[in-house]
Amino acid sequence: MHQTTTIAHISDVHVTPPRGLTPKLLNVKRTLGLMNWHRGRKRVHKAAVVDLLVGDMQECNPDHFAVTGDLCNIGLPSEYTAALAWLKRIGPASDVTVVPGNHDIYTNTGKHPGVELWREFMSPDEFGSQLAGVAATQRGFPFVRRVRNVALVAVNSAVETPPFVAAGRIGKEQLAALETVLQNEALEGMARVVLIHHPPLPGLAPKARALADAEDFAAVLARTGAELVLHGHNHRDMLNWAHGPQGRIPVVGIASGSAAARHKDEPLGRYNIVRVTPAEKGWAIEVLGRGLLAVDGGVVEIEREMLACCDA
Ligand SMILES: [Fe+2]
Ligand SMILES: [Fe+2]
Repeated sequence: MHQTTTIAHISDVHVTPPRGLTPKLLNVKRTLGLMNWHRGRKRVHKAAVVDLLVGDMQECNPDHFAVTGDLCNIGLPSEYTAALAWLKRIGPASDVTVVPGNHDIYTNTGKHPGVELWREFMSPDEFGSQLAGVAATQRGFPFVRRVRNVALVAVNSAVETPPFVAAGRIGKEQLAALETVLQNEALEGMARVVLIHHPPLPGLAPKARALADAEDFAAVLARTGAELVLHGHNHRDMLNWAHGPQGRIPVVGIASGSAAARHKDEPLGRYNIVRVTPAEKGWAIEVLGRGLLAVDGGVVEIEREMLACCDA
C-alpha cells in the first residue's frame, strides 16, 4: 500500500517591510541592510506574489507546510510581528514548520524576543518531544515533528553576523544532537526530511553567504543517512546530492516565494510540492515546482521531477 505524504516548501519570502527603525535600533548592520533593501529587494519581494503562492499551496491541500527562513529583512521588532501574522495565515502552527534564516537572526534584538515570537511554529510535536536527545539541545534546535510517515527534522543554521556577512553555522552542539536524532530508532521506517535555511553542503554558496560547518553537516549525513534535505537562501532552485550510508540523499533548494521581478538571475516567485512515498527500496520523492513564469501571469506548474532516493 502506497502512502504519500505531501509537503509544501516555501522560502525566502522577505515579506516584512522594514518599518519602525528608531535611533535605538540603529546599528551598522541594519543601516547597510536597509540601504541594500531600498536599492534592490524592495522592488523584488512583494506580498501580492506571496499571497498568490500561499493561496495556490493551500489549494493543493498538502499534509504540511515547511518554511525555510528569511521571512524578515533587517530583523526589526515590527518585522517579527508581521511575519507571525503571515505564518498564521498559512495555517495553524501544528501544520506549519519554520526554521529561521540569516535575515531572521540578523543582529542583536536587545530585549525583543526576535524569532522566539514564532516559537509555536518552531517546536516539536508530541512525537518529537518524546525523542531522546532532543530535550537537551540548545535554543530548541533541532526539533522533530511527525507528519504521517515523515519525520521533519528542523535545524537552525542562522546566527548573528557582521555587516556584509550572510553566512550560517549549525554549531557543534546542534550537530551532535542532529546525529542523535537522525539515528533514533523511533524514526525507523519513517522518511527523515531535514529542514535548514542555508544550502548545507560544501561549495553551494560563496564563503560570506555559506554554511561554515557544511562539511560537518555532510559528515553527519554520511554516518546517519536521511531521506531528503530542503533548504532556501540562494533564491534559486537547486538540486544537489549528499551521501548517506545507504546511497544518495537529495538536497533540494527552492527559490524565493515572493519575487515579483527578476533580480540578477533569480527566478520569479515559486514553491515546491514534495511528495514522499515508500518505495520497494527506500523512498520515492517527487518534486513539483509551482510558481510564476511571467510577471503578470498566474501560478502554474513549472517542473516535475522524480528523485529516486536510497535505491538509486
Ligand atoms: Fe533570502
Ligand atoms: Fe538567507
